Amino acid sequence: RQEKFQRIYELYNAAQKLYTHILLNTTAGEQALRYLLKERELDEETIKKYGLGFVPSNNVLLSYAREHDVDEPTMKAAELFLERDGELVRDRFNNRVVWPIKNERGQVVGFSGRSLDPDNPAKYMNSPESPFFNKGKLLYNLDLAKGPIRAGQPAMIFEGFMDVISAAMAGAEGAVATMGTALTEDHVRSLAKLTERIILVYDGDAAGQKAAKRSIPLIKTVAPKVEIGVIALADNRDPDEVRRELGLPALKQALEQSTQTPTEYLFNAAKLGKNLQNQAQYLDFLKEVWPILADASPVEQDYFLQKLAEEYGSSMEALRSEFEDYQRRHP
Ligand code: UTP
Ligand code: MN
Ligand code: MN
Ligand code: MN
Ligand code: MN
Repeated sequence: RQEKFQRIYELYNAAQKLYTHILLNTTAGEQALRYLLKERELDEETIKKYGLGFVPSNNVLLSYAREHDVDEPTMKAAELFLERDGELVRDRFNNRVVWPIKNERGQVVGFSGRSLDPDNPAKYMNSPESPFFNKGKLLYNLDLAKGPIRAGQPAMIFEGFMDVISAAMAGAEGAVATMGTALTEDHVRSLAKLTERIILVYDGDAAGQKAAKRSIPLIKTVAPKVEIGVIALADNRDPDEVRRELGLPALKQALEQSTQTPTEYLFNAAKLGKNLQNQAQYLDFLKEVWPILADASPVEQDYFLQKLAEEYGSSMEALRSEFEDYQRRHP
C-alpha cells in the first residue's frame, strides 16, 4: 500500500515536471506561455515557483507513462487520464494551462486546468475527488504559506490560484485559496493550527460578498480564538485584477492597509445598493444592522450606534431602544 501510494506520487511529480517543461521549452507550449506572460503578467521565475504547466493535445503524459512502464492501476488511481470502457484514452487536462495542487507536505496530489478558449463554458477543471485530492481539505499553496504564517504573517484566504500568486507577488506570503469550493471546517482547522489571525480576501463581486458573509460565522464557530479580518475590493475586481489593472503597489496597499473587522465589513456591506436618504431603505438597512451588532462587542455596538446617529440623524435613544428591542426578540 505504501509502495502503491509512492508510485502514484511519483507519477504526479513526473506529470508536473513534464507539463512545465512543455510550457517553458517547447513550441507546443508557446501560446500558453505567451498567455501567462502577456495576459496574466507573470514572469518565468513565478511560473517555475508554482510549477505551472501546459498540457498539449497529443497525450504526452499517457505516452510517457507507457514508455516508463507505469502500471495500469497507478495510472488509473492518479486520475490524470480519461477512460473509455475501462481503457485509458487520453490526458485529462488536454489543452489547458495547469496548476499543480500540492498537499501540506508539498507533494503534488492533482491539478487544476484553465482553458484558454474564452468560449469554453468550463473555464476551470479540477482533478476529481480521490483519496489524494479532497477539495474540502486542501488549501492551495498551504505548503509554501505555512512557514510565513507560523513566522507571523496573517493567513489570507483567497478564491483562486491567480489571486494567491498575485498576493505573494505583493509580499503576502501567507496566501492560500479554496478551489472553487466554499470554506470548510477542515480548512479553518488547518489554518487555526498555525495562526490566530485569518483574513478573508474574496473577489469584490456579489459572489465574494456572499462567501464572506458565510465564512465569518463559520470561522467564529470553529476557531473562536481566531481574530478575523476582511478585505473588501472595489468595483467587482478580484485581487489578481487589482494587480493587473491598478498595479502591484495598489494590491500591496489593499492587502496591507484596508483590513476591516467583521462588524465593519458587514455593516458596510449592508449599505450596498441602498439609498439611505430614502426612509424605507434606511429602515431596511437598520433591520440588517441589528443582527450584525448583536454579534459584536459592547464597544463596537456603541461605536456603530453613534455612527448611525451622526450619519443619519436618528437619536441615540431611539437607536438604542430599537436595538434593545431586537435583542429581546432574539435572545
Ligand atoms: P472565479 O470565477 O472568480 O475565477 O473563480 P476567475 O477569477 O474568473 O478566473 P481567472 O482569473 O479568469 O482565471 C475563483 C477561483 O476558483 C477556482 C479558480 O482558482 C478560480 O480562480 N476554481 C473555480 C476552481 O478551482 N475550480 C473550479 O471549478 C472553478
Ligand atoms: Mn469569473
Ligand atoms: Mn469569483
Ligand atoms: Mn475571480
Ligand atoms: Mn481572476
